[in-house]
Amino acid sequence: LRTVHVALIHWPVLDRARNEVCTNVTNFDIHDIARACRTYGVEKYFIVNRMKEQLMFVSRVIEHWRVGWGSKYNPMRKTALDMVSGYETLEDVLKQYDEKPYIVTTSARDRGLQRHSFKDLRREIFETEGPPILLVFGTGFGLSDSVFEQAQALLDPIKGASHDDYRHLSVRSAVSICLDRLLGS
Ligand SMILES: C[S@@+](CC[C@H](N)C(=O)[O-])C[C@H]1O[C@@H](n2cnc3c(N)ncnc32)[C@H](O)[C@@H]1O
Repeated sequence: LRTVHVALIHWPVLDRARNEVCTNVTNFDIHDIARACRTYGVEKYFIVNRMKEQLMFVSRVIEHWRVGWGSKYNPMRKTALDMVSGYETLEDVLKQYDEKPYIVTTSARDRGLQRHSFKDLRREIFETEGPPILLVFGTGFGLSDSVFEQAQALLDPIKGASHDDYRHLSVRSAVSICLDRLLGS
């Protein structure tokens, strides 16, 4: 089984007007994505935000549940948050690896990049050997082009069954669905 990690990008992402911006970390994204990762055997969840105060917020939340009062109140949460760490840039995340990971981005829209179907990536995860796979998710109005340029592939968009092809999921939902399609039993 290939190693799979998750990165949540707050910078650089797009805003409504397609400007590059840095979004704020939300508490739910820390907890819910960590628990989804824990459930599917993803051992590392990187939160990328270039704002120091935002990374400090991430550390405070983690510390509360890891060693503070929260660790006694809800020990299960501690086992999920152990995998969370904050970095200023995607480049900083990549420096953590001995072997460059295979970066797979996600988007609800088409981006004119090499697509990877869920089926193919799942087969690669289960049947091939190689570098870790880093699944990259966006916030705001989605990942900026500079993130797609650093990636080797783009995962097919998650499509449901809405009559008008609506598919703009919250990032927490998108992570859970992707992990289930790629790693679910
Ligand atoms: C652009 S954010 C927007 C949602 C909201 N602002 C938030 O932060 O939850 C949602 C991210 O989830 C992923 N995503 C959302 N819908 C998706 C879909 N249909 N297929 C694949 N990925 C999707 C992408 O990584 C996208 O960047």
